[in-house]
Amino acid sequence: MMELRIQLIPTGEIILPPGKNGENYCHNCRVVASDGVRAMMESALTARDRVGVQDFVLLENYTSEAAFIENLRKRFKENLIYTYIGSVLVSVNPYKDLEIYTKNHMERYRGVNFYEVSPHIYAVSDNAYRSMRTERKDQCILISGESGAGKTEASKKILQYYAVTCPASEHVQTIKDRLLQSNPVLEAFGNAKTLRNDNSSRFGKYMDIQFDFKGAPVGGHIINYLLEKSRVVHQNHGERNFHIFYQIIEGGEEDLLRRLGLERNSQQYQYLVKGNCPKVSSINDRSDWKVVRKALAVIGFNDDEVEELLNIIASVLHLGNVQYKEEEGYAYITSDTQIKYLARLLGVNGTVLTEALTHKKIIAKGEEDESHKDASVIGLLDIYGFEVFQHNSFEQFCINYCNEKLQQLFIELTLKSEQEEYEAEGITWEPVQYFNNKIICDLVEEKFKGIISILDEECLRPGDASDVTFLQKLEDTLGGHPHFVTHKLADGKTRKVMGREEFRLLHYAGEVNYNVNGFLDKNNDLLFRNLKEVMCMSENKILTQCFDRDELSDKKRPDTAATQFKASLAKLMEILMSKEPSYVRCIKPNDSKQAVRFDEVLIRHQVKYLGLMENLRVRRAGFAYRRRYETFLQRYKSLCPETWPNWNGKLSDGVSTLVKHLGYKPEEYKLGRSKIFIRFPKTLFATEDALETRKHGLATKLQAGWKGYCQKTKFQKLRTSAIAIQAWWRGILARRKAQRRRQAANTIRRFIKGFIYRHKERCPENEYFLDYVRYSFLMNLHRNLPKNVLDKSWPTPPAALTESSELLRKMCMQNMVWSYCKKIDSEWKHQMEQKMIASDIFKDKKDNYPQSVPKLFVGTRLNGEDINPKAIQALGSEKMKYAVPVTKYDRKGYKPRSRQLLLTANSAIIVEEGKLKQRIDYGALKGISVSSLSDGLFVLHVPSEDNKQKGDVVLQSDHVIETLTKIAICADKINSININQGSIKFTAGHGKEGIIDFTPGSELLVAKAKNGHLSVTAPRLNSR
Ligand SMILES: Nc1ncnc2c1ncn2[C@@H]1O[C@H](COP(=O)(O)OP(=O)(O)OP(=O)(O)O)[C@@H](O)[C@H]1O
Ligand SMILES: [Mg+2]
Repeated sequence: MMELRIQLIPTGEIILPPGKNGENYCHNCRVVASDGVRAMMESALTARDRVGVQDFVLLENYTSEAAFIENLRKRFKENLIYTYIGSVLVSVNPYKDLEIYTKNHMERYRGVNFYEVSPHIYAVSDNAYRSMRTERKDQCILISGESGAGKTEASKKILQYYAVTCPASEHVQTIKDRLLQSNPVLEAFGNAKTLRNDNSSRFGKYMDIQFDFKGAPVGGHIINYLLEKSRVVHQNHGERNFHIFYQIIEGGEEDLLRRLGLERNSQQYQYLVKGNCPKVSSINDRSDWKVVRKALAVIGFNDDEVEELLNIIASVLHLGNVQYKEEEGYAYITSDTQIKYLARLLGVNGTVLTEALTHKKIIAKGEEDESHKDASVIGLLDIYGFEVFQHNSFEQFCINYCNEKLQQLFIELTLKSEQEEYEAEGITWEPVQYFNNKIICDLVEEKFKGIISILDEECLRPGDASDVTFLQKLEDTLGGHPHFVTHKLADGKTRKVMGREEFRLLHYAGEVNYNVNGFLDKNNDLLFRNLKEVMCMSENKILTQCFDRDELSDKKRPDTAATQFKASLAKLMEILMSKEPSYVRCIKPNDSKQAVRFDEVLIRHQVKYLGLMENLRVRRAGFAYRRRYETFLQRYKSLCPETWPNWNGKLSDGVSTLVKHLGYKPEEYKLGRSKIFIRFPKTLFATEDALETRKHGLATKLQAGWKGYCQKTKFQKLRTSAIAIQAWWRGILARRKAQRRRQAANTIRRFIKGFIYRHKERCPENEYFLDYVRYSFLMNLHRNLPKNVLDKSWPTPPAALTESSELLRKMCMQNMVWSYCKKIDSEWKHQMEQKMIASDIFKDKKDNYPQSVPKLFVGTRLNGEDINPKAIQALGSEKMKYAVPVTKYDRKGYKPRSRQLLLTANSAIIVEEGKLKQRIDYGALKGISVSSLSDGLFVLHVPSEDNKQKGDVVLQSDHVIETLTKIAICADKINSININQGSIKFTAGHGKEGIIDFTPGSELLVAKAKNGHLSVTAPRLNSR
């Protein structure tokens, strides 16, 4: 057994003494106290159909190995290499790099409860670390499994986890580095390529990591168990010696090799050729050498120490090449080349060495000292699991004995912790049926009667003791023991599968046959005394530490290998018992180091020999699941209306209400002081499934609630914004209004003041008013200018503008007149001239004149076709200027006759049909009389002396104003028209006189009156 001690001493250096483990012994420790470790990952239960259960404890059919393996397979297929059995982590070697060891992963597991995250080596590491910190209790993590199952990798992962996640100062960083760097060194000296594993650890390793009160790593301490020494001198085909030999030869600098007397060819050395496997594809010896050389420096070996270490390594190779021959019963060495190297490398006298190599013998052993007492510790045990080969020898015997002890520890601690928990919770302890392997441990280790004692006895007794006599002794002493059989003792069936040189032990994990060949030699493990003496004389400091001179004087025979191993195991048990253990059980999925392949036969074998079914059975003996009330209630409270959303009473009452609501039967659960215990996984699954369904409902509700809340918040925001905008806008409007009012008030004030001062000289008080009055007059004028020349309206100007107003008015009128005149054409001018004449004659004189004003005068009232052609013919060349139908009244009877009046340039002609009845030359026209009333009668006066004429002519025209105006113009008699009131006298021919009386009346009536006058009644049209 060799120890590597790494510890922090005040100088900050690392020392490497052979050590004695000084941990306190503690019987009263539990497997795992925290809920976290016991807990299962409920959250992943729903996916169990695909990925299996994360904790085997939740396997319904927990006694079925097939169900167990099926669960492993499901998970392995999904790259889920970790599964729990309660606090035990089962790990299947994936044989490929999984992305689950990143810094992020480490952070995810840091300080988190077991059941909150999926199973992982980090969860185990973190849980151990937290338990150590919070409960101030030393921890240990036990890693076991077959060669190649991933134990060393797991231990490295744990170390890395602590190196990354634990608090560290600069000072502590060196310790972390040293802890990490111890691995390459240990592996160089203790690992080798085997058929099962290219980097197989050929020793068991227990490593203490010591933490200070702040939780920072401050030191380490490594103990090795049962190094496979035989590998140094012999390797099976396809296997190699320890890596370090190849590393030096391949990677060592020329200088170094020269100093060591080595050649760069491993095939030159007898100890390296046996396996016929100098090179391995997965190993790069040259680069590994660099890593190891650097690691040695980090750990604290100085150059001299490294040199001495390498001297020893080289000396082993040289020793292998020493050739012996025999002469007369004595051995001698054929060549002294190697001896010379050996003498130099080991710092011993060559002759003495030669003598010792060829002569007698005696034994030695290494020892330990003590450790940090005040530090908290996490121990890592990377140790071989149960081994069962075709041929099992002394090594397998030791290894399986070790596992038997570890199983005993496991059972003891697990059951104890279960029992303690039950007691603590006030639940009746139900005895668990389990196989107590004490009987097997006793079979191996009991004083006087145990296999080791018998073996030692055979080794020590004088006479011709041999492996066979040892077997006989076993049969004699142990025959009849229920766990021990030999070929001779066995029944017929067993005998068939056993060799004569074998004994069989019925281990807790299964039966193993051990072949006794070599047991005695291996157990003796003797080193010739004179060889030991030579080593004690060495100048090599490492050798002098290994071979203690004081021991030479001790004549007592050293302990045998088995006894030493037994003692070191007992010590290991002590160490482990004083700590709270966690377990990692490694499984390899196939023998060909292939990813993905799941070799069921191989795995079943490992499940059996790792005792996993037994683990599970013990773990499931009582209740499958337990959880603190608050945790249980917190998770499942939504499943019961009374506990949802909050339970305000006692926690236990809450849980009790909840499980009753869920319909748990009394035999399915128990309520402890602080925890609920559930017996069957199916009860938990049903609850978990119910939660899953409920979660959907809750999620929908939450979603709706959240959406509502979002909408409400949005609405509130909009509302607030709207109100703000409204307020702002109202403010603006109010300010504008106030401003307008202010302005209005000022204007009014100014206006009033202006009004008061309006008659004063222009001064500041009235200037606005005055301007305003002017302005408003002008604006008013602008809007109300007269539309035409007849429109006489004009706004009244203020006093100050009277003159201007007048000027403007005139200008406006002129402008209108001018524009009006511009629009007049010749026709219109003619019309206007006629109208002017009519106005001169009739305006204010004849009643129907105003009615005639708007009616336009026409050129003629009768056209050519209206007049008899004969009459036209009679006119001859005389041009007709105007023609109008008239009524002629007889001079005597006043009979009305329809006639036409034609005006020519010289005369007015009265036409009856085709005849020109009467022609009145304008020269002969004395005058024209007309009444002032609205009638159409008029009289053309002719001279009475004119015989051609028969007297004045009484006519009536419907267009009297027009007709008379035309006559006046044609005859140039404008001033000869008399407008009479009352009556008109006229000559009726031959000196006779006629009278026409005009009276106003309601309608027009023309008739001969009784007095012989012509009476005309005319309606009054215009009151004058
Ligand atoms: N978690 C892992 N991820 C990826 N590969 C792994 C893992 N664990 C182990 N391996 C692979 O398996 C090989 C063997 O693992 P390891 O050396 O840890 O086995 P072991 O159990 O220590 O065997 P031995 O008892 O022979 O020392 C490793 O070299 C590595 O290639
Ligand atoms: Mg290993």
